[in-house]
Amino acid sequence: MSAEKTNQSWGGRFSEPVDAFVARFTASVDFDKRLYRHDIMGSIAHATMLEQAGVLSIAERDAIIDGLTQIQAEIEAGQFDWRVDLEDVHMNIEARLTDRIGITGKKLHTGRSRNDQVATDIRLWLRDEIDVIIKEITRLQEGLLEQAEQHADVIMPGFTHLQTAQPVSFGHHLLAWFEMLSRDHERLVDCRKRVNRMPLGSAALAGTTYPIQREITCRLLGFEAIGGNSLDGVSDRDFAIEFCAAASLAMMHLSRFSEELVLWTSAQFNFIELPDRFCTGSSIMPQKKNPDVPELVRGKSGRVFGALTGLLTLMKGQPLAYNKDNQEDKEPLFDAADTLRDSLRAFADMVPALKPRVEVMREAARRGFSTATDLADYLVRKGLPFRDCHEIVGHAVKYGVATGKDLAEMSLDELRQFSDQIGDDVFAVLTLEGSVNARDHIGGTAPAQVRAAVARGKALLAAR
Ligand code: ARG
Repeated sequence: MSAEKTNQSWGGRFSEPVDAFVARFTASVDFDKRLYRHDIMGSIAHATMLEQAGVLSIAERDAIIDGLTQIQAEIEAGQFDWRVDLEDVHMNIEARLTDRIGITGKKLHTGRSRNDQVATDIRLWLRDEIDVIIKEITRLQEGLLEQAEQHADVIMPGFTHLQTAQPVSFGHHLLAWFEMLSRDHERLVDCRKRVNRMPLGSAALAGTTYPIQREITCRLLGFEAIGGNSLDGVSDRDFAIEFCAAASLAMMHLSRFSEELVLWTSAQFNFIELPDRFCTGSSIMPQKKNPDVPELVRGKSGRVFGALTGLLTLMKGQPLAYNKDNQEDKEPLFDAADTLRDSLRAFADMVPALKPRVEVMREAARRGFSTATDLADYLVRKGLPFRDCHEIVGHAVKYGVATGKDLAEMSLDELRQFSDQIGDDVFAVLTLEGSVNARDHIGGTAPAQVRAAVARGKALLAAR
């Protein structure tokens, strides 16, 4: 049977063409075509190396590089005819190369297999994606630092169990997100090291009989190291799983942040104002302004966790080496990277535009007995054991609930019903400022510490 009737790349041993549905079912070009730039980059490096290894002539190498460069331009101009019958991005580009430059095009695949080719492409692609994602993390962190610096003195209630706990600086609260994102950044930078190892040269699974020089392709492609085992190189996708794990943690953080923004923009909290450009309205309720961006990010975290679970399940139990199962790695990986990048971008755009409602936050902190721990600490300083102080303050809070008064609103006589150790110096500790200023150590909420943390954060970002 001629090559036209069967697939021209592997049709030699086949005696009937592949079933039309099977061709569509097994094809990946609809989604893997987005690897075209990295596929061409890998092919150019491979051809360059083959010439240096004496496998291709200079003229052949140049014809291949020239052809690939023109194909890239064709793709980017939207003039490339992607063919499902050619299965994937690799065979589409190779077939077009042969169309353009004739039989020399068929020499490109010498000493290579689609198995090491695709593993190389995904790694090159993911490396670039990580670089974009970590820039977005930095941009979001810059926004947080800016807001934290500006609002170091703004006081809001800090929560545990979503109940008012102790007063905190709004800047301090924002810097909690900064810390989480710093770890997300670290994880992605670390993950990138293991993404950036080269499988090219593994060929189908066992390596190749040609005198390839992997150091050359490694250098040309900017890989940090050459994969040490060909079977491993073509088959494992742990690097993609690791990326999805890091992406899942980052999305988990963004989903928590989202949840707070959703709560805080509600009429019930009313802590912050989200500019209209990040919200949408309702088609039926004219008064509505919905925090769509945080809600969507919260929802999208699920897709990324799904990608992680999907890829783990894809790899689980796969025998060495390459299996077609691995073609299923791309869609979840692409989706996880797209989702994380877009979510970070939305947050990086939105965070600098958040406006705290300073008075509302302050009033909420003042209302919730948020300085009760400060009163207990005050009594400890007067010499009472902490557990007794806790009990005394508990009684004072109970009285406050019954009379509708916060601790700072009670008279000295009222407070002294609960302990005669209380003197008129107590009011300094019951104020919100007194409370936050007292937590004056590294990582504490005192505004001076918030400013110090902002300075450390700026130094961290400057060193990236
Ligand atoms: N499209 C394939 C993938 O994504 C490329 C490698 C196919 N190799 C093979 N021997 N069928 O994994």
